[in-house]
Amino acid sequence: MAIERTFSIIKPDATRRNITGKITDKLEAAGLRVIASKRIHMTRDQAEGFYAVHKERPFFNDLVTFMISGPVVVQVLEGENAISQNREVMGATNPADAAPGTIRAEFAESIEANSVHGSDGPDTAKTEIAFFFSDGEIVG
Ligand code: CMP
Repeated sequence: MAIERTFSIIKPDATRRNITGKITDKLEAAGLRVIASKRIHMTRDQAEGFYAVHKERPFFNDLVTFMISGPVVVQVLEGENAISQNREVMGATNPADAAPGTIRAEFAESIEANSVHGSDGPDTAKTEIAFFFSDGEIVG
């Protein structure tokens, strides 16, 4: 099994409800190690840049507005098969489809306010980590 790194965001709906610890607990229980973490309030430019891949989607503007509606916690997670492991513990994008016990099933409010983001593959993970963290901020 490969030790991988992935990128995670605990979204504004979760910081608002003060459940960042509960969510991090789920990540750690799934075998993921938080090797970098910071609480930030994204600018519109940052959110638009981060989600640029979705800019033609009808939900893009609402997504960006939501992501800058409050602070978020950005994290780098490390572990065996971290990318798929994180996606599994997050659950489906739409909480209505998320398996019981997953973060989104337990905590998400809607498809937009779905508590967490996680990279969807190795290339995305690399790009997303570099978007928010310098090498010196990541302590494995
Ligand atoms: P995330 O993993 O952060 O990546 C893009 C986000 O767009 C996604 O999670 C959802 O929170 C959000 N989103 C809002 N509406 C939709 C939609 N209709 N389909 C997919 N994603 C959506």
